[in-house]
Amino acid sequence: MRYAIISDIHGNLHALQAVLKDIRESNIDKYIFVGDYFGDLPYPNEVTDIIKVLNKKYIVSGNKEGYLTNLQENNKDEWIHNQFKVLYWNYKELRKDNLDYLLQLPEKKIVCQDNTKKILILHSITSLFKETKLDLLTSSKYAERMDKFNFEHEDYLKYVKNIILTDKKLMKKLESIDADIIVFGHTHIQWYININGKILINAGSCGLPLDLKTTAPYTILDISSNRIIIEEHRVKYDIQNLIEEFKKSMLYEYAKGWSNIVIEELRNGRDEITFFFRYVIEVAKNHGSHSWPIENEIWNKAINSWFERNNSKDKYLL
Ligand SMILES: [Fe+2]
Repeated sequence: MRYAIISDIHGNLHALQAVLKDIRESNIDKYIFVGDYFGDLPYPNEVTDIIKVLNKKYIVSGNKEGYLTNLQENNKDEWIHNQFKVLYWNYKELRKDNLDYLLQLPEKKIVCQDNTKKILILHSITSLFKETKLDLLTSSKYAERMDKFNFEHEDYLKYVKNIILTDKKLMKKLESIDADIIVFGHTHIQWYININGKILINAGSCGLPLDLKTTAPYTILDISSNRIIIEEHRVKYDIQNLIEEFKKSMLYEYAKGWSNIVIEELRNGRDEITFFFRYVIEVAKNHGSHSWPIENEIWNKAINSWFERNNSKDKYLL
């Protein structure tokens, strides 16, 4: 059985189409989608339309889909904050049938492969490994580490393995999980690891990779009776064309500042958003504001000055 795992599309139709085209040539039996179908790029309906009709798939929701539930249930006034503008645009943009589809997705799923292997599918493993060294594997930490060591992917896999093996609490939690393979996404970094026969697979982010590569990732999990093979794939697509289309979109018009940060991320594969959040919190403090969500006036000021700052690495050192 060959599974193609796709995560964190974030509304990037161009990346999804390129990845699906590549997958069609790889003899796949089933798709696994692990959440965050919309978000930063202007095609929430187009992406959902494609995924909805794909046969032979396992699919779960991500934190973005979780926000949709909040938007439905809570006072929508909270979402007029500029900080959440992009999310709100997506919520308003999604057609009723697509919104309903995304809202009914389960948070996790267990797939039993030939009664021998159990696969746990979910968006984020953070909740499974609370208060462990797992926070060292975020995209911002990845960028900071890359600044220091300029490492190769193989080195990163060794680094991940070392983090897991040297954290007793994490190891204990991993052993207690009733699954042989855990498939997820969320951090936008593609990696996999085999720890004493238990396999963790992060499929990276198809639409917004943050591992300093701009190609779109997906991972193949190939299981047969006597072996498991994992293949990490990256697909090249025309990012410049995507950016040009993005700049003509309603989303770009509606939230230009945020969209420009996303464009930076598309161009360099670096987690600019987290660094921007650190910056905006600093700007708020300097204005004596500690409110959350961030006040619109402060948010706008920070967005404007973010782009005025020079491109030196200093901007990441707040
Ligand atoms: Fe995501």
